[in-house]
Amino acid sequence: AVSGTLVRSTKPGDVLFLARPQGDFVLPEHPRPLLMLTAGSGITPVMSMIRTLVPHRPDSDVVLIHTARTPADAIFREELAELADQFPNFRVIHWFTGERGRLDFSSTAALEQLCPDWRQRAAYACGPEGFLDDAEALWAAETATAGPSSDSTLTIERFSTKLAGGEGHDGGLVTFEASDREVEADGDTPLLDVGEDAGVLMPSGCRMGICHSCLTPLRAGQVRDLRTDEVHGEPGQLIQTCVSAAAGPVNLDI
Ligand code: FES
Repeated sequence: AVSGTLVRSTKPGDVLFLARPQGDFVLPEHPRPLLMLTAGSGITPVMSMIRTLVPHRPDSDVVLIHTARTPADAIFREELAELADQFPNFRVIHWFTGERGRLDFSSTAALEQLCPDWRQRAAYACGPEGFLDDAEALWAAETATAGPSSDSTLTIERFSTKLAGGEGHDGGLVTFEASDREVEADGDTPLLDVGEDAGVLMPSGCRMGICHSCLTPLRAGQVRDLRTDEVHGEPGQLIQTCVSAAAGPVNLDI
């Protein structure tokens, strides 16, 4: 009922942490017209926003463009149709990739056609990596063209993070000061995993660099950001252990 991992992988004796919902994929503080772009199961968080907003705020103005392979693959399709029937402030556009190919974000043409006032809307996108990368590139190009006067913002929710850096770099001896553990780590394993494997109770949440639940103070040494390959670290700095690896000897205050 909760997740496949919880059901299949949890063993007696495992320690589970419960945390409040986290992240920055949230509705804007002040009402403004919205454009939701979703692909596949990426609609899930957006569906919560729509259910919260559309029936309760008659002044809301939401356009949802949802892509799925076929009509049968479009989850929440009936509920979305009912909401769109009931609330004129909500418009849903389905894009079936099986019939029309991928929604093309290489230019603004598709958006212009589907939602001509997209530039006046706060956009939210959730879906697979390629879909989000393309949307991000389109909004970046738009902002570069329109300059700071551009009204269109894009907020993205990712399910995973690409960890590119680390490979081939040296790690070092990692000391978990408060837990009195020392362990040799390579240069591409996140310190969160290194700590957990050593039996240290490491704080964590998303495990992909978004929620900041894993922040741990660095006492000494430097770490490599596995997303960007950047090496950094000052004593006292808070380190995101889920996306940082040792870059030489590291002392953590945990
Ligand atoms: S666990 Fe979420 S940022 Fe590290």
